[in-house]
Amino acid sequence: MSLANRNLVVVDDLSNGEVEALFSLSDEMSNSMDKQSGVCRGKIMASLFFEPSTRTRLSFEVAMHRLGGSVVSAVDIGATSLAKGESIADMARVVGSYADIIVIRHPWEGAAKVVADYAGVPVINAGDGSHQHPTQTLCDLYTIKKEKQTIEGLNISLCGDLKHGRTIHSLTYALARFGATIHFRPSPGLELPEHVKRKLTTEYTGRLESYDNQSDIAKVRFFPLDAIYMTPSKPHQLANIPDVSLQIEMKTGVDALYITRLQKERLMATAESQDLKTDYPVIDRKSLKGKEFKRTLVMHPLPRVDELAYEMDADPRSMYFKQAACGVPIRMALIALLSGAKEVSIAKEADSFVHNMDYPIYRRNFGVKCQNQNCVSVNESRYITPEFGIINLEPLTLRCAYCEHEVHPQYIASSDWHEGKVDTKKYHRADSHWARKIKPENLIIFDSGGEAEAHGFKPSHYAREHHLR
Ligand code: NCD
Repeated sequence: MSLANRNLVVVDDLSNGEVEALFSLSDEMSNSMDKQSGVCRGKIMASLFFEPSTRTRLSFEVAMHRLGGSVVSAVDIGATSLAKGESIADMARVVGSYADIIVIRHPWEGAAKVVADYAGVPVINAGDGSHQHPTQTLCDLYTIKKEKQTIEGLNISLCGDLKHGRTIHSLTYALARFGATIHFRPSPGLELPEHVKRKLTTEYTGRLESYDNQSDIAKVRFFPLDAIYMTPSKPHQLANIPDVSLQIEMKTGVDALYITRLQKERLMATAESQDLKTDYPVIDRKSLKGKEFKRTLVMHPLPRVDELAYEMDADPRSMYFKQAACGVPIRMALIALLSGAKEVSIAKEADSFVHNMDYPIYRRNFGVKCQNQNCVSVNESRYITPEFGIINLEPLTLRCAYCEHEVHPQYIASSDWHEGKVDTKKYHRADSHWARKIKPENLIIFDSGGEAEAHGFKPSHYAREHHLR
């Protein structure tokens, strides 16, 4: 099967079967590194890194060199025409006309999707703000699989900055798809974002049980357990999640503990306080001395700061340098597949993941906008039409197609009015029965009553009362 001309913008762009096939190709390539130099001969990869990077950029570039291709790179926004006000779309079109494949890291969430929408060549997301980092997830899963042979049924703890960590978000979705049980152990104040939690429960087959941090159960470990996600591959465990899961953890132990650094650069963007740093967990030998950590893989996407003690480096449980090292064969396999230089066969039975993504699309160049100030659709509004999936009607919940943050708009109207089907041009509260009545294709959604009025709509009776309140 060919994966030529596909993009990897979010981790769900690859099915489970495709991920497994990529892992096999990666094995093959790492076993015969010196025989790969003809695979991408004549091809050029553009490496655009507009945020700091060591591992991701260098492993991508080394991967392309090992495949016999060449690399052109831009590593500083200030040195590109983006600094002159050029749009990401224009840059993508131009770079796409020079190179055969593009790797992009950018501080705005959704930036990689825009590049993919305009480049006309395969695009790989190497990290877009706090949104996703799918190739790090491939390295993470590959490491776990190599050590534990499977991912299904493993107990995996994700620790630290679960709010801003893009590696955490991509890994969470992938673990859910591969049937792991996920224990969320955020540093206080840095819990998994609501939109990630919602996606976990609406798009994957498992169940998320959240605890309030005060409960006894949540306090039983070295820092609070915030939530557990379990897949129905083990239905008996779903009956009473908190107790059973903790018993399992005590009995079979934690299979992997994945810690991330505090994403300081993202805190500044959201004006959060530095106090968050004080309670940040630290993984050291002492914190892992319980018997449930006996066979725990200690994982970190790196770079580390203070959250992972150097004394762990000599510990056989530590996997973080292995994770980084597999960046080269994993990215070689990925480049070879997306550029069409290699094909793979995919086991049908491995492709069991059902993606629940048939939401009606809402797309208009006026009305509701994404509220995430770090979303590319907000920062490049000159040409990007806001686009959302309507993931729920009651309450009306939209998911931005770029950054995946949610919006809960207050007012709606129908575009049907001009055909005389609605007697006057009115807007309604989003929580009224109109949310169900208006056909998705006719729906107009507004952030505020003022905006609806600016477009010539008058408030319906209830909307007026609501607007005046
Ligand atoms: C991560 C990233 O850039 O998101 N680094 C990486 O690619 N391995 C993690 C981090 O910066 O904390």
